Amino acid sequence: MKTYIWGIPTRLFHWLLATGFIIAYILSDFEDYMNFHFAFGLMVGVLIIFRLIYGLIGPKYSLFNNFPIGLRNQINFIKTFFDNSKKYTGHNPPASFVMILIFIVGISCSLSGYLLYKSNFSENILFFNKEIFEEIHEIFANLLLGLVILHLLGIISDTIFHYKVGTLKSIFTGFKNIEDENIKSNLFLKIFAVIWFTAAIFIFYQAYNFTKISENEVEQQNSIQSEDEDD
Ligand code: HEM
Ligand code: HEM
Repeated sequence: MKTYIWGIPTRLFHWLLATGFIIAYILSDFEDYMNFHFAFGLMVGVLIIFRLIYGLIGPKYSLFNNFPIGLRNQINFIKTFFDNSKKYTGHNPPASFVMILIFIVGISCSLSGYLLYKSNFSENILFFNKEIFEEIHEIFANLLLGLVILHLLGIISDTIFHYKVGTLKSIFTGFKNIEDENIKSNLFLKIFAVIWFTAAIFIFYQAYNFTKISENEVEQQNSIQSEDEDD
């Protein structure tokens, strides 16, 4: 009694996203590794953009219309929490809600990081200066960290209270111990997945080669700019 619910693209996406976030977060403290911070951070954003498209065209349990996020679903989930006959093949209601938030906050974090990087080279972007982007980026990064902690608490509670379902195992193997319809892939989805991960690697490489920003370089850049203006 097993159902194949997470195909290779979903599992690869998940582990690249998790690695990207963890490494980007840790490296934000190390100036020498800032280009890896840009690379992993921007990879997170690109991975999520493709995941959003996959949520519209992908296999059954990855589709957003299969995410039971409504209030009634959340209440039902709480009411039937200890009723082991109620099983969710895809994401359960609170997990679906947290995942949607991870997508929104993850993209915002990546984008605000990119704008923060860009703000080192120009006075204002969209009327905001570097200090504002710094604040916004920090808020999104910490919000994302909070969501990841919630996500992990959810997995731990599911593993304790619904261990027979095998949710934790499913993100490694693709299978849950539930009887339902297996997902199917097709050539179009396979091509989409190849484009998805090629784009993520390409952006990683591009971002790794971004101009290194250090206090000195930015100061130098500014003084060159002001000298040019004086001339
Ligand atoms: C390192 C430990 C982690 C473990 C053990 C883990 C485990 C899991 C599991 C078991 C699922 C499937 C849940 C379900 O069936 O409802 C899942 C899904 C997901 N996880 Fe994680 N996770 C980890 C880290 C992360 C991190 C760091 C992030 C985000 C930065 C993340 C984001 C997600 C997302 C977005 C999904 C939904 C995937 C999709 O629908 O395509 N996870 N995770
Ligand atoms: C989801 C992905 C990302 C996460 C989780 C993340 C996280 C962080 C964190 C925690 C900080 C330190 C904030 C503080 O304490 O002030 C930071 C700083 C920063 N991030 Fe990101 N970031 C991400 C993506 C990006 C991207 C894509 C870029 C640029 C392409 C970027 C550029 C920067 C810059 C320039 C700083 C300021 C570094 C400094 O001057 O100390 N980040 N990021």
